[in-house]
Amino acid sequence: MTPREMASTHAAAFTQPRPWTTDEFASLLENRFIHIVGDAGCFALFQAIAGEAELLTVATHPTVQRQGLALQIMHQWHEQAAALHSTRAFLDVAADNFAAIALYKRCGYWQCGLRKGYYLRETGPKIDALVMERHLP
Ligand SMILES: CC(C)(COP(=O)(O)OP(=O)(O)OC[C@H]1O[C@@H](n2cnc3c(N)ncnc32)[C@H](O)[C@@H]1OP(=O)(O)O)[C@@H](O)C(=O)NCCC(=O)NCCS
Repeated sequence: MTPREMASTHAAAFTQPRPWTTDEFASLLENRFIHIVGDAGCFALFQAIAGEAELLTVATHPTVQRQGLALQIMHQWHEQAAALHSTRAFLDVAADNFAAIALYKRCGYWQCGLRKGYYLRETGPKIDALVMERHLP
Protein backbone atom coordinates (compact mmCIF):
# COMPACT_ATOMS: atom_id res chain seq x y z
CA MET A 1 0.00 0.00 0.00
CA THR A 2 1.45 3.38 -1.00
CA PRO A 3 1.39 6.61 1.04
CA ARG A 4 -0.84 8.10 -1.66
CA GLU A 5 -3.41 5.28 -1.26
CA MET A 6 -3.31 5.71 2.51
CA ALA A 7 -3.89 9.46 2.24
CA SER A 8 -6.76 8.87 -0.19
CA THR A 9 -8.59 6.40 2.10
CA HIS A 10 -7.84 8.58 5.14
CA ALA A 11 -9.30 11.66 3.41
CA ALA A 12 -12.44 9.73 2.43
CA ALA A 13 -12.93 8.34 5.95
CA PHE A 14 -12.02 11.34 8.12
CA THR A 15 -13.91 14.57 8.39
CA GLN A 16 -12.40 15.64 11.71
CA PRO A 17 -9.59 15.98 12.59
CA ARG A 18 -8.04 16.79 9.21
CA PRO A 19 -6.83 13.77 7.22
CA TRP A 20 -3.10 13.08 6.98
CA THR A 21 -1.30 13.93 3.73
CA THR A 22 0.70 11.66 1.40
CA ASP A 23 3.92 13.28 2.65
CA GLU A 24 2.94 12.70 6.26
CA PHE A 25 2.28 9.00 5.60
CA ALA A 26 5.55 8.70 3.64
CA SER A 27 7.44 10.25 6.54
CA LEU A 28 5.76 7.98 9.12
CA LEU A 29 6.67 4.87 7.10
CA GLU A 30 10.35 5.81 7.24
CA ASN A 31 10.20 5.20 10.99
CA ARG A 32 11.35 1.63 11.67
CA PHE A 33 9.00 1.31 14.66
CA ILE A 34 5.90 2.04 12.56
CA HIS A 35 4.01 -0.72 10.73
CA ILE A 36 1.06 -0.87 8.37
CA VAL A 37 -1.59 -3.54 7.86
CA GLY A 38 -4.45 -3.58 5.34
CA ASP A 39 -5.17 -2.10 1.95
CA ALA A 40 -7.00 0.82 0.35
CA GLY A 41 -10.33 -0.49 1.70
CA CYS A 42 -9.21 -0.49 5.31
CA PHE A 43 -5.83 -0.04 6.93
CA ALA A 44 -4.21 0.56 10.29
CA LEU A 45 -0.89 2.10 11.25
CA PHE A 46 0.70 1.16 14.55
CA GLN A 47 3.92 1.79 16.42
CA ALA A 48 5.60 -0.98 18.44
CA ILE A 49 8.30 0.01 20.93
CA ALA A 50 9.65 -1.70 24.03
CA GLY A 51 6.79 -4.13 24.57
CA GLU A 52 4.00 -1.63 23.90
CA ALA A 53 2.05 -1.02 20.71
CA GLU A 54 0.08 2.14 19.92
CA LEU A 55 -2.58 2.38 17.24
CA LEU A 56 -1.83 5.58 15.33
CA THR A 57 -4.78 5.46 12.96
CA VAL A 58 -7.35 3.10 11.48
CA ALA A 59 -9.62 4.00 8.57
CA THR A 60 -12.17 2.20 6.42
CA HIS A 61 -13.21 3.74 3.12
CA PRO A 62 -16.85 4.88 3.47
CA THR A 63 -17.91 2.70 0.52
CA VAL A 64 -17.02 -0.46 2.47
CA GLN A 65 -17.80 0.49 6.06
CA ARG A 66 -19.87 -1.79 8.35
CA GLN A 67 -18.64 -4.93 6.60
CA GLY A 68 -16.31 -6.09 9.35
CA LEU A 69 -13.11 -4.82 7.71
CA ALA A 70 -11.90 -2.80 10.69
CA LEU A 71 -12.54 -5.77 13.01
CA GLN A 72 -10.28 -7.90 10.77
CA ILE A 73 -7.59 -5.22 10.57
CA MET A 74 -7.59 -4.70 14.33
CA HIS A 75 -7.11 -8.45 14.76
CA GLN A 76 -4.25 -8.44 12.21
CA TRP A 77 -2.34 -5.58 13.81
CA HIS A 78 -2.75 -7.10 17.27
CA GLU A 79 -1.21 -10.33 15.94
CA GLN A 80 1.67 -8.47 14.30
CA ALA A 81 2.30 -6.39 17.40
CA ALA A 82 2.30 -9.52 19.58
CA ALA A 83 4.76 -11.14 17.16
CA LEU A 84 6.96 -8.07 17.74
CA HIS A 85 6.80 -8.86 21.49
CA SER A 86 4.24 -6.21 22.45
CA THR A 87 2.17 -7.22 25.47
CA ARG A 88 0.02 -4.07 25.72
CA ALA A 89 -1.90 -2.18 23.04
CA PHE A 90 -3.19 1.34 23.55
CA LEU A 91 -4.74 4.19 21.59
CA ASP A 92 -6.53 7.48 21.98
CA VAL A 93 -9.87 8.32 20.49
CA ALA A 94 -12.05 11.43 20.42
CA ALA A 95 -14.84 11.18 22.98
CA ASP A 96 -17.40 11.99 20.25
CA ASN A 97 -16.18 9.27 17.84
CA PHE A 98 -18.85 6.76 18.77
CA ALA A 99 -18.16 4.40 15.84
CA ALA A 100 -14.48 4.02 16.77
CA ILE A 101 -15.22 3.67 20.50
CA ALA A 102 -17.73 0.90 19.72
CA LEU A 103 -15.14 -0.80 17.49
CA TYR A 104 -12.45 -0.66 20.18
CA LYS A 105 -14.78 -2.00 22.86
CA ARG A 106 -15.66 -4.89 20.51
CA CYS A 107 -11.91 -5.50 20.27
CA GLY A 108 -11.49 -5.81 24.03
CA TYR A 109 -10.25 -2.32 24.91
CA TRP A 110 -11.18 -0.52 28.11
CA GLN A 111 -10.70 3.12 29.04
CA CYS A 112 -7.55 3.74 31.11
CA GLY A 113 -7.25 7.51 30.89
CA LEU A 114 -8.75 10.83 29.78
CA ARG A 115 -6.99 13.76 28.10
CA LYS A 116 -9.16 16.81 28.63
CA GLY A 117 -9.56 19.07 25.58
CA TYR A 118 -7.02 17.07 23.59
CA TYR A 119 -8.55 17.40 20.13
CA LEU A 120 -8.97 20.78 18.46
CA ARG A 121 -11.90 21.22 16.10
CA GLU A 122 -12.14 23.81 13.32
CA THR A 123 -15.34 24.98 14.97
CA GLY A 124 -16.81 24.26 18.37
CA PRO A 125 -15.20 23.29 21.67
CA LYS A 126 -12.12 21.14 22.16
CA ILE A 127 -12.91 17.45 22.49
CA ASP A 128 -11.59 15.11 25.17
CA ALA A 129 -9.56 12.04 24.20
CA LEU A 130 -10.25 8.68 25.81
CA VAL A 131 -7.11 6.62 26.29
CA MET A 132 -7.91 2.92 25.88
CA GLU A 133 -5.85 -0.21 26.33
CA ARG A 134 -5.92 -4.01 26.18
CA HIS A 135 -3.50 -6.82 26.70
CA LEU A 136 -1.86 -8.61 23.76
CA PRO A 137 -2.20 -11.11 22.23
C1 LIG B 1 -14.27 3.45 12.89
C2 LIG B 1 -14.12 2.75 11.53
C3 LIG B 1 -12.63 2.46 11.28
C4 LIG B 1 -14.90 1.43 11.57
O1 LIG B 1 -14.65 0.74 10.35
P1 LIG B 1 -15.61 -0.39 9.76
O2 LIG B 1 -14.80 -1.23 8.82
O3 LIG B 1 -16.86 0.20 9.25
O4 LIG B 1 -15.95 -1.24 11.08
P2 LIG B 1 -16.52 -2.72 11.14
O5 LIG B 1 -17.48 -2.96 10.03
O6 LIG B 1 -15.38 -3.69 11.29
O7 LIG B 1 -17.35 -2.65 12.51
C5 LIG B 1 -17.02 -3.43 13.65
C6 LIG B 1 -17.84 -2.97 14.83
O8 LIG B 1 -17.47 -1.61 15.20
C7 LIG B 1 -18.66 -0.91 15.62
N1 LIG B 1 -18.98 0.15 14.64
C8 LIG B 1 -18.36 0.39 13.46
N2 LIG B 1 -18.91 1.46 12.85
C9 LIG B 1 -19.90 1.89 13.67
C10 LIG B 1 -20.82 2.97 13.59
N3 LIG B 1 -20.86 3.82 12.54
N4 LIG B 1 -21.68 3.15 14.63
C11 LIG B 1 -21.67 2.34 15.70
N5 LIG B 1 -20.81 1.27 15.82
C12 LIG B 1 -19.93 1.07 14.81
C13 LIG B 1 -19.77 -1.93 15.66
O9 LIG B 1 -19.73 -2.58 16.92
C14 LIG B 1 -19.33 -2.88 14.55
O10 LIG B 1 -19.89 -4.15 14.64
P3 LIG B 1 -21.35 -4.41 13.93
O11 LIG B 1 -21.28 -3.88 12.52
O12 LIG B 1 -21.48 -5.90 14.02
O13 LIG B 1 -22.35 -3.65 14.76
C15 LIG B 1 -14.72 3.60 10.38
O14 LIG B 1 -16.01 4.06 10.76
C16 LIG B 1 -13.87 4.81 9.99
O15 LIG B 1 -12.97 4.71 9.15
N6 LIG B 1 -14.16 5.97 10.63
C17 LIG B 1 -13.42 7.22 10.31
C18 LIG B 1 -12.00 7.13 10.80
C19 LIG B 1 -11.91 6.96 12.31
O16 LIG B 1 -12.67 7.56 13.06
N7 LIG B 1 -10.94 6.13 12.75
C20 LIG B 1 -10.76 5.84 14.17
C21 LIG B 1 -10.02 6.90 14.88
S1 LIG B 1 -8.30 6.89 14.46
